[in-house]
This record gives sequence, structure tokens and C-alpha cells, in this order.
Amino acid sequence: MKTFALTPKITVYDRWQEWLAGADLGPRDVILTAKALQAARLGAIPDTTRVICIDDFGAGEPTDEMIDAVWDAAARQDFDRVVGLGGGSVLDIAKILTLKRSGRTLAIFQKTAPAIREKSLVLIPTTCGTGSEVTNISIVAVPSLGTKIGLAVPELLANEAVVCPELLHGLPEFAFVTSGIDALVHAIESYLAPRSHEYPELYSTRAIELLLNNLLHFVNNGRTAAIPTIAREMLLGSNYAGIAFGNTGVGAVHAISYPLSGTFHIPHGEANSRCLCAVLRAYKRIKPDGKIRHIEKLIAKSLGRNPPLDALLTLEHLIDALLPKKSLTDYGMRRDQIPEFAKTVINTQQRLLGNNYVPLDHDQIAAIYAAIL
Ligand SMILES: NC(=O)c1ccc[n+]([C@@H]2O[C@H](COP(=O)([O-])OP(=O)(O)OC[C@H]3O[C@@H](n4cnc5c(N)ncnc54)[C@H](O)[C@@H]3O)[C@@H](O)[C@H]2O)c1
Ligand SMILES: [Fe+2]
Repeated sequence: MKTFALTPKITVYDRWQEWLAGADLGPRDVILTAKALQAARLGAIPDTTRVICIDDFGAGEPTDEMIDAVWDAAARQDFDRVVGLGGGSVLDIAKILTLKRSGRTLAIFQKTAPAIREKSLVLIPTTCGTGSEVTNISIVAVPSLGTKIGLAVPELLANEAVVCPELLHGLPEFAFVTSGIDALVHAIESYLAPRSHEYPELYSTRAIELLLNNLLHFVNNGRTAAIPTIAREMLLGSNYAGIAFGNTGVGAVHAISYPLSGTFHIPHGEANSRCLCAVLRAYKRIKPDGKIRHIEKLIAKSLGRNPPLDALLTLEHLIDALLPKKSLTDYGMRRDQIPEFAKTVINTQQRLLGNNYVPLDHDQIAAIYAAIL
């Protein structure tokens, strides 16, 4: 049996003002955002609409303690609708605020407290990465576990996803690059996942083409100056990738990168960029015949390399051009930590490891860390 679901409703706006004009914001709404976006995008909203900036509750990507604190702040007033305007960090917290407070954030993520949906949700991405606006997933860093964990339940789906490329125009270069690579990883991992089939592949393959074409354009055409030109296709690429992986899951690249982000506070897309090619090379060694061949052809074609002599090397060169190369030791990782990291992946990421192109055991995961140390 094969299934494919496309939720929520997606609305595309060319102009941000168009959405604002029709949003009917009022006192029963809470807008969750970040300071940079509040200043640039929310000047004209009614005084009665509550705005909460996640930067007031901690720096970087969400932790369970940070979400508890945002929830305390939001709970000071009644609201019916949550609007998340931001990158994946904002959108993932917005999803949790729509739930009944059945326990602490960590308990809900660990499913010892139930996820019960109470409020409606509009999600508006301002990075080109997570696809969170169309997934049923929220990700949290748990400092006490030294890793990140995800909650994937239908209660986290938005009622509406708003796609507005204009919102990417002020995106800092680092966030553009890291979120763009994250979207590419979503599309590649979705395509290779055992649960993938014709329907998610329609979205994952188109996402790979759009993202690679436009990341290459970014490198060759003035980087930040190119963002307004490529914003639309990058945002569509990340959205399509979200639709694809929302149906198939992501696998080892994410599973192996989570302890890196959890321990060394490496932003999610940056951590994924360090792991992507090493995981694909391991897949190719273990099972060279199969969909890994197709993905190599697609990568080579999208990067203008035909015939696909060494698609993975070409991909690696693109990633190096996007982000200065770093090894795991540059972040502070030691060789003697590898077995412990591999064990954390096995113990905490079974939800993701089941989506791998081929199964990976402790030693194979340790070898991937060693390859990028
Ligand atoms: N739920 C999912 O399906 C899913 C999927 C992948 C990743 N994630 C999670 O998403 C998070 C990463 O999200 P991200 O890569 O979008 O980065 P992010 O949300 O952390 O944003 C990065 C930085 O860019 C700023 N920013 C965002 N948009 C901006 C704009 N338009 N203008 C100016 N500044 C802007 C943010 O304030 C922040 O400082 C991680 O926690 C990751 O685990 C979730
Ligand atoms: Fe991701």
C-alpha cells in the first residue's frame, strides 16, 4: 500500500502586504516571530494583536526549556489562533503553542503527555529550508539528552501555509545557505526513503532540481545580491521538499547531525551540510545499485554536469562554495567521542533510521562520523 497526503491548504502571495491586508488580525491572535521580522514586516498590525518574539526567550534553535518559557508568556492571555512568521525555529514553536498544555514540552515530545490540538494555526516561512509549514513535525533540542528529538503527529499540521517569496528578501546570507542546504537534504532523503513512491517523488525530484539550480546561481551571481531573483524558486523548492518528506520521513543525515547540533550548537542546516555527502557515500558503498544511481544522475543534471562522472564530488564542491569547509574537530569534537555519538543516534533516532536507504548499524554510523572528523 502507498499513501500520500497533501495538507494544509497552501496560499501563495507575491506581496506580503496582500496577506497582511486580508489576515483579519485581532485580539484573539498571537503572532510568534523573531525581532528582525517584527521590525521589518509587522509595522502595520492592530495594537490589540499580541506579538511574541522567540529571541526574547533564548538564542538559536528551540530547546525544550525555551518552548516552556514561550508557552508561559503566551498563556497570559486567551487566544484562538497562532500565526508563526519566521524560520523553522519560529514555526516549530508555533506548532506547540496550538496544543493543550497537557504537560511540559519535553513530556509532550517524549509522548508521556498527549498532544491535543486546541487552536488554529497559520504558518508563514521566512527561510527556504525546513518546509515546516507543510509538515506534521516539530523539532526540539534537549540539552539534558545532548541531542535533538522530533515529534511527528497530525495535531501539529497547520490549517494554512502561506508562501510569500518576498519575505526572503532580507534573509541573511548564512541563514539562506544553511536553510537551502537543509531543504536539499529533505528532498534527497525523502527520495531515497523506503516509503517513497511516485507521488512524493514528484515533489522531491522537482525540489532537488529547483534547489540545486538556484544554489548554483547564488554562488555564481553575487550571492546575497542574487537572493531576490531566486527567492521564489528556493521557497517553492523547500515547500515541495517539505511535502515530500512529510510523507516519507528523513533519514540518516538528520539522525547523525542531531547530536552535533545538540552538543556543539551547530545550526541545523550547517550540521546537515557536514553529514550529507558522507552519508551518500556510505549508501553508495553498501548498495551501489538502486535509487542512489538515480539521485546521482539527477544531481549531476541539475548542476549542469552530464555525464554524471562524480556527482557526489560535484555536490561536495557546491557545498564548499556555499559554506566554508569545516571538520567536526573544528566544532570541538574528539575522536574518542565517536562511539558515544553513534550510540546516541542508535538510542534516540530510531524514528529516522527506519527511513534510511539502507540500514546503518552502530559501526557504520561511527565510520560516517570518522569520515568527517
Ligand atoms: N518541523 C520541521 O519539519 C523541520 C524540518 C527541518 C528543520 N526544522 C528545524 O528548524 C530549525 C531551523 O530553521 P531555519 O533553518 O529556518 O532557521 P531559523 O528559524 O533558526 O532562523 C535562522 C536565523 O534567521 C533569522 N531569520 C529567519 N528569517 C529571516 C528573514 N526573512 N529575515 C531576517 N532574518 C531572518 C532568524 O531570526 C534566525 O536568527 C531547527 O530547529 C530545525 O531542527 C524543522
Ligand atoms: Fe532538516
